[in-house]
Amino acid sequence: MTVKRVGIVGSGIMGSGIAETAAKTGHEVVLRSRRQETADATVAGLEKSLAKQVEKGKLSDEDRQATLGRVTATSDLGDLADCDLVIESIVEDLAAKRQVFNELDRICASGTILATNTSTLPVIELAMETGRPERVCGVHFFNPAPVMALVEIVRPLTASDDTIAEVRAFAESCGKSPVEVKDQAGFIVNGLLFPYLNNAVRLLENGVASRDDIDTAMKGGCGFPMGPFQLLDLVGLDTSLAILDALYDEHRDPNYAAVPLLRRMVTAELLGRKAGKGFYDYHR
Ligand SMILES: NC(=O)c1ccc[n+]([C@@H]2O[C@H](COP(=O)([O-])OP(=O)(O)OC[C@H]3O[C@@H](n4cnc5c(N)ncnc54)[C@H](O)[C@@H]3O)[C@@H](O)[C@H]2O)c1
Repeated sequence: MTVKRVGIVGSGIMGSGIAETAAKTGHEVVLRSRRQETADATVAGLEKSLAKQVEKGKLSDEDRQATLGRVTATSDLGDLADCDLVIESIVEDLAAKRQVFNELDRICASGTILATNTSTLPVIELAMETGRPERVCGVHFFNPAPVMALVEIVRPLTASDDTIAEVRAFAESCGKSPVEVKDQAGFIVNGLLFPYLNNAVRLLENGVASRDDIDTAMKGGCGFPMGPFQLLDLVGLDTSLAILDALYDEHRDPNYAAVPLLRRMVTAELLGRKAGKGFYDYHR
């Protein structure tokens, strides 16, 4: 089956980015938020983003209009019933995701692939929430989704070869370079990246170096495009903490145990760019 119609559940940083990516590459997109106003605001954000791309000469006006014409915003999960693929991209919380998979399984056609954009949670838990575990897998986009080339395709023990092949073809049709990985917390990228980000917070907490010097060091010394604190702010500190907790739960390795400062910042609602403040202040 070729994926033509894509449902996206959740319109945060990632849901909106995946919607833009899929719509720009010719897929019909149904974007679902819990509230209709949020879904409409996400489409308004997409309109703005596409208009900027036209201004910069990166997109033709014709493509802008066609892309927008392919996107529908809804608050009703029932509107995803006839999608070929549904990508869940809500908060990184297993109980909340389980509930969404349970509802999607009841609503969607039997052939619909149900995929999650989770960064670390066990995909098998979501597959077993459904009556179609062979049609469930992970499709992990990176932030910002319209820009980053990688998609990790996560294969739980139950997924069929057809499901993985169809999702791989979908990722390629979005212009991405997919890799396949087993259903293990952190997959490839976050399994390697988050111990590094966590240890950067540890250096800061221990007063070994300042925020700016740590960011400068990793950019200048390793050629990274951004430092660890800029990246944590981009990802979101709540999402980062949830990723570390999931890695620790799975491996019980102290290297994955979130540094207290990170947990305290999440409690203080210093969540990074999306909150206006994290390690950096974005109000200024
Ligand atoms: N931020 C990143 O860099 C990044 C990268 C790759 C994957 N992810 C994954 O993508 C998913 C979404 O992350 P995000 O960064 O877009 O988060 P976000 O905080 O920007 O958005 C989360 C969305 O989930 C919605 N939501 C919260 N609780 C819900 C519930 N109970 N039911 C339905 N919707 C609910 C919120 O209203 C919000 O729209 C997570 O699984 C995350 O791990 C994040």
